[in-house]
Amino acid sequence: MTKANVVLGVSASIAIYKALEVLSILKKRGFNVRVALTKEASKLISPVVFKALTNKDVYIDVMEELDFEGTNITHVALAKWADIFAVVPATANVIAKLANGIADDPVSLIGLATSASKVIAPAMNSSMYLNPITQRNLNILKENGFLIVEPIEGDLACNTRGVGHIALCEDIVDVIESTLYFKHFEDKTVIVTAGPTSEPIDPVRYITNRSSGKMGFAIAKIAHFMGADVRLITGNTCLKTPYGVKRIDIETAEDMLKALKHELSKSKNEVILIMAAAIADFRPSETKDKKIKKKNENGFTLKLKQNPDLTIEIKRFAEKADIPLRIVGFAAETDNLIENAKKKIEKKGLEFIVANDVSRKDIAFGSDKNEVAIIYSNGRIERLEKASKDKIAYEILRRLI
Ligand SMILES: Cc1cc2nc3c(=O)[nH]c(=O)nc-3n(C[C@H](O)[C@H](O)[C@H](O)COP(=O)(O)O)c2cc1C
Repeated sequence: MTKANVVLGVSASIAIYKALEVLSILKKRGFNVRVALTKEASKLISPVVFKALTNKDVYIDVMEELDFEGTNITHVALAKWADIFAVVPATANVIAKLANGIADDPVSLIGLATSASKVIAPAMNSSMYLNPITQRNLNILKENGFLIVEPIEGDLACNTRGVGHIALCEDIVDVIESTLYFKHFEDKTVIVTAGPTSEPIDPVRYITNRSSGKMGFAIAKIAHFMGADVRLITGNTCLKTPYGVKRIDIETAEDMLKALKHELSKSKNEVILIMAAAIADFRPSETKDKKIKKKNENGFTLKLKQNPDLTIEIKRFAEKADIPLRIVGFAAETDNLIENAKKKIEKKGLEFIVANDVSRKDIAFGSDKNEVAIIYSNGRIERLEKASKDKIAYEILRRLI
């Protein structure tokens, strides 16, 4: 995915410092960024800070002529240059202007002049946010194609708690990035399983595995970018839920099967199921309801029994309920990678299987990168070179369009 040009509009909210973090995340992700500030915003934070971070002139006065790529009508030049116009933070005032075609400051002026994708992250006191006038203005923006990164509940500058706190910076950048993706999955539900399962031995101990959940979370995020209604069924991980994704937390393989059946039967769209979780093959034959005491010096023998094969179970469930379902499997192997993956694809009737070698320290479990082979039902094997898990996620999803 080639990275794009973002005009970052900044208005005078107490959350203005978040614009600096958003700017820095955008740069890290490879976006080209130019900044426009309202006059009031430039009183809260010096434009010099934004100039230093972008190494470019900052647009702070509508009458000012910045030398910008051969033209001196700054707002027109920036409006044309932008692939994405994002206002972070967006005050009630700038929202009202954008919704009503007022163009008397650099931010609202570019907003009116540009045909770029538009994203805003409102931040304000709860009363201002919940005021029907602000809500009406936000609805006007939504109807006109603006993506609103909804504010969250949190501590507000006026020493209260409530809705109006700016969204998380990572989420804001995710929404900005999502505008670059074609919405191939708009009419699809994508269910992703991720992370390990935890199979309890007693109330304090369990058997688990090394899955971090990163691959499944990346797939859920990118599937949402591509317009899908995404359900992420995950075992224990410390990862942040991707913006816009419905997360269902589970512990055991049996919980995961229940959650899968529940989500599948609720879905009204065609469902694509991506089984990226590392589901325990075995669980303790019995779970003690009290902590097992350390009384026996020779230890004790833990008897295990096999967990159901979730892919086979869910396929059967979907067939019985007449729910159209396409399944992609993952094979985490340490040896005979391709041969083992081929066996799974046949046994489970998968569309394709993504095989990765979990014995390698530089990829797979816990890593931000992966290198996989995609194995199709006709035996064709496609190798994807080592890349970020986001990129691998996109490549997997692209093959399901
Ligand atoms: C310290 C301070 C914090 C403010 N925080 C907010 C805010 O979070 N959201 C908001 O809508 N207005 C906030 N305001 C009010 C706006 O700054 C004011 O409406 C201003 O006219 C907005 O200008 P702009 O939209 O052109 O940037 C704040 C004002 C001050 C002085």
